[in-house]
Amino acid sequence: MSLEQLLTSIPPGTADESLARQVNVDRLPAHVAVIMDGNGRWAEQRQLPRVEGHRAGIDAVRDTVETAARLGIRVLTLYAFSIENWKRPASEVSTLMVLLKRYLRSELKTLLSNNIRFRVIGRTEDLAPDIQDELRLAMDRTASNTGMLFNIALNYGGRAEIVDAARRAIASGVRPEDLDEERFAGFLYTAGQPDPDLLIRTSGEMRVSNYLLWQIAYAEIYVTETLWPDFRRRHLLEAVLAYQKRERRYGGITAPAVIGSR
Ligand code: IPE
Ligand code: IPE
Ligand code: MG
Repeated sequence: MSLEQLLTSIPPGTADESLARQVNVDRLPAHVAVIMDGNGRWAEQRQLPRVEGHRAGIDAVRDTVETAARLGIRVLTLYAFSIENWKRPASEVSTLMVLLKRYLRSELKTLLSNNIRFRVIGRTEDLAPDIQDELRLAMDRTASNTGMLFNIALNYGGRAEIVDAARRAIASGVRPEDLDEERFAGFLYTAGQPDPDLLIRTSGEMRVSNYLLWQIAYAEIYVTETLWPDFRRRHLLEAVLAYQKRERRYGGITAPAVIGSR
C-alpha cells in the first residue's frame, strides 16, 4: 500500500486530502501503537450507557485500521482490553467481548481485501473459548497476507508479558550469560516485530497504563484530547505528521538521518 492507495479513498479537495499529501512516506513510523481510551466519557457526554461508547468505538477502529494499512504502516497495535480491565462490571466486560466477536466477523472481509494480517497479543488462553475460536479463525484466515500486521492487545498487560517472556526464556534453556536485550525481545509476544515508533493515546490521559512497556522504550508519545469513538483518518494523519516533526535521539546528541526504520 502507499499514499496513492490512501488518496484513492479520500474525496479530493477535502482537509483529509491535504493532510495526507503532507505525509512524508519515506518517514512513516514502522509501528504505530494506540491506547484507545475515552469510550466511557464519550457515552457519558451523551447521557448514554458506557457500552454505547464501546459500540461507537468500532467505527474508529475500522477507520484507523484501513487508513493505516492504506498509508503503508507496517504494524498497527490496538489496545482493546487490559488484564486490569477485568475490574470493570461483568456486564461491561461481556459487552466488550461480544463487540469484539462481532467486529471480527464483520471485518474479516475488509482485513482480507486490504491484505492485512491479524494477530492477538496477550493472555488469550484466559479468554472464553468462543472468543478464542473467533480470534483463531481471523488469525488463520489472514495468516498468509503480506500487508500490514494488525495486532490486537487483548487481556494484555505489559508486566505480564515480561513475566511470560522470562518464563519462556527459562523454559528454552537459554544460559543466563547468553541472554541479552535482543534475545529477550524474541520471547515477547511481539517477537520479530519492530518496536512502536509512535504511541498514540486518545482522551487526553498522560499515562501508559501497562501497555507494551518493553517495546515503547523509545517510542514518540502523542496524546490527543479526541475521545476514541471520534477518532478518524484525520486524527491518525495528524498524529503521523506530528511524529514526523519530532527529533529522535535514542540517547545520543544528534538526530538520526532517518526517522523510524524505513
Ligand atoms: C477505552 O475506553 C476502552 C477500554 C478500556 C476497553 P474506556 O472505557 O476506558 O473509557 P473512559 O476512559 O472510561 O472514558
Ligand atoms: C487502557 O485504558 C486500556 C485500554 C485502552 C484497553 P484504561 O481506561 O483501562 O486505562 P486507565 O485505567 O485509565 O489507566
Ligand atoms: Mg479509560
